[in-house]
Amino acid sequence: MNELAQQVAVVTGAGRGIGQAIALQLAAAGADIAGVDLQPESCAETVAKVQALGRRAWAFGANVADAASVTAAAEQILAAAGKVDILVNNAGITRDGLLMRMSEADWDAVLDVNLKGTFLFTKAFTRSFLKQQSGRIINIASVIGLIGNAGQCNYGASKAGVIGFTKSAARELASRGITVNAIAPGFIETAMTAKISPEARAALLKQIPLGSLGQPADVAGAVLFLAGPAGRYLTGQVLSVDGGMAM
Ligand code: NAI
Repeated sequence: MNELAQQVAVVTGAGRGIGQAIALQLAAAGADIAGVDLQPESCAETVAKVQALGRRAWAFGANVADAASVTAAAEQILAAAGKVDILVNNAGITRDGLLMRMSEADWDAVLDVNLKGTFLFTKAFTRSFLKQQSGRIINIASVIGLIGNAGQCNYGASKAGVIGFTKSAARELASRGITVNAIAPGFIETAMTAKISPEARAALLKQIPLGSLGQPADVAGAVLFLAGPAGRYLTGQVLSVDGGMAM
């Protein structure tokens, strides 16, 4: 069960929701965890839970959309942990609105965090992955990046961008033993989906063949698969964890 023993995983947006579930499943499989969120204090609960599993854990504050902040965090992480084996680009936001009314600020904020943040964090660890000739990069995209959603042009574009980024990086890094894959979750019970109205939720459930929203642990299980020995021969793939929404 300790398939990730001696490995270090960086998880962005690790303070809550899907990021926290990913940190805990990777830790349960033996990995030490560097959790990143906007404020280091946001990761306190995650760090305590990882430590309770007997692993090393650190909390770092960084804005994934800000290059200087990402570079500083990556340096601190490598200094504290000594190396990184797994990077999970999970931090993400929504700023929903109909296209006609969507502000440039809402477009930029979502693209900056979801897409540029994935680029910046991946770039920050690429040298280290190249040096060790190994690495697993897992980007959290979304079903919306595959099939779209009214009111989410910014979010859909950012997540489709994450998928395109994943495939290009996978081709670029494959010969050096580094895999890059994406996961496209459907609707998962977190703070992000708690704002959905009961009416919208009922309509949504009709689009999910398995008939319920997913749990953060469902996404974390897919991350563990891609990060562990079973994921050795996969790269450039998009794994849907969506109850069958996109097929
Ligand atoms: P959440 O809102 O519960 O948690 C996101 C975490 O990321 C928070 O701790 C937040 O502080 C952090 N974060 C936000 N902006 C950041 C930044 N600029 N720098 C560093 N950290 C930042 O969201 P949830 O639901 O856990 O989502 C996690 C990922 O999964 C996101 O990329 C989201 O787009 C994706 N996703 C979520 C789905 C859902 O139904 N909840 C469905 C599909 C994808």
